[in-house]
Amino acid sequence: MVAGTALPAVGAARPSPESYLPPPSTTDGAGRPANAATGRVAPVRRNAGLPARLESPIGGNVPPPVPQQPHPDVVPEQMHVAVDTSGPPTGAVADAVTAAAYVSRETPTREEDDPPLAMEAMRAVQILNPSGEVTMPRPERTRVMCVANQKGGVGKTTTTVNLAVALALHGNRVLVVDLDPQGNASTGLNVPHHTGVPDVYDCLINSVPLEEVAQEVEGIPNLYCVPATIDLAGAEIELVSVVARESRLARAIAAYPGHFDYVFIDCPPSLGLLTVNALVAAQEVLIPIQCEYYALEGLNQLINNINLVRQHLNPKLEVSTILLTMYDRRTRLADAVEQDVRNHFGDKVLQAVIPRNVRVSEAPSYGQSVMTYDPGSRGATSYFEAAQEIAERGVKEPVSRNA
Ligand SMILES: Nc1ncnc2c1ncn2[C@@H]1O[C@H](COP(=O)(O)OP(=O)(O)OP(=O)(O)O)[C@@H](O)[C@H]1O
Ligand SMILES: [Mg+2]
Repeated sequence: MVAGTALPAVGAARPSPESYLPPPSTTDGAGRPANAATGRVAPVRRNAGLPARLESPIGGNVPPPVPQQPHPDVVPEQMHVAVDTSGPPTGAVADAVTAAAYVSRETPTREEDDPPLAMEAMRAVQILNPSGEVTMPRPERTRVMCVANQKGGVGKTTTTVNLAVALALHGNRVLVVDLDPQGNASTGLNVPHHTGVPDVYDCLINSVPLEEVAQEVEGIPNLYCVPATIDLAGAEIELVSVVARESRLARAIAAYPGHFDYVFIDCPPSLGLLTVNALVAAQEVLIPIQCEYYALEGLNQLINNINLVRQHLNPKLEVSTILLTMYDRRTRLADAVEQDVRNHFGDKVLQAVIPRNVRVSEAPSYGQSVMTYDPGSRGATSYFEAAQEIAERGVKEPVSRNA
């Protein structure tokens, strides 16, 4: 990234909007959907969504229908398949019956969504690292990373939570500071953050030490979280009249007695005083960029703010990491955004790209990261790879200072 240069519009030689749309889908001879771009036929998932037994549409236990044997001379107008629900179907015919009777044409393919089972299980063990060994290199000094992008809903919190869990599972000591009044990172880590819980607001406004408000994250050794309650919503205004208002968080982190390998600060979707506090406290900025049309709009403003903070308040600050999120490989638009971002930010962009994956979005509703919710999913695998890259970069090279 070169300071001061204007960011390009997405897809400089951009195809027409129509061309962003996936080509119309076709079907193969058997009526299964085929990917028009690759010509690949989507594999049918056997037994996907197979009910244990057929249910009556009006509820209750209804005995299975008696199979009607067609007279051998009568050719039925429409083929009716009678399914015996008393036991699992066997043989090739039963497989075909199962596929025809139970698999919706819209059923997402395993290939499109998550990796095959054996690989999934292997990855799950690798990701959960049950031995607790240090398998991601620990940095020499604490890396304070501010996860920022003033655009909302680009995956800041999801990225913070999942990278933090991945690094902690692999032997790093990690602190997450939830600096967003929405408290999403606290929710994602299942840390209490209702009104009355000591939170980051107390640290910023009342100078309460961070260690008094940090909570251990249950089930993840080495991971701590400073929660945010709704009180934080007033902090933007209250901070205005506080002494050293931009560096309150930096001081609080510096005064924390425990050693952390990583401190992740989850920023709100704004460039106000809370985000400025995060930028002053951090050495590195991690910018998640959603692979969507407006991805780069507004980034100039963020980069300008980072440059201002570097000039006046925190000379160590640099944009070290860009992570592409919610990548939908079925669209050309995602590809165009990726190319633009890679051309502009070069090697700051992680090789790992986070796909749009339903397991990632489900995990917070269970108070979990996707790493523990579904460690074999593509979402977990991608965040694991991103964490590994970040850890390896941290020990290889001090990142250049030309953000
Ligand atoms: N890779 C993904 N696949 C599917 N859904 C995702 C993915 N990443 C994030 N999401 C979902 O997108 C939504 C926004 O994500 P998230 O809250 O992490 O963004 P954010 O930048 O922190 O938002 P805000 O600006 O409001 O703080 C959430 O519902 C989240 O579950
Ligand atoms: Mg958020």
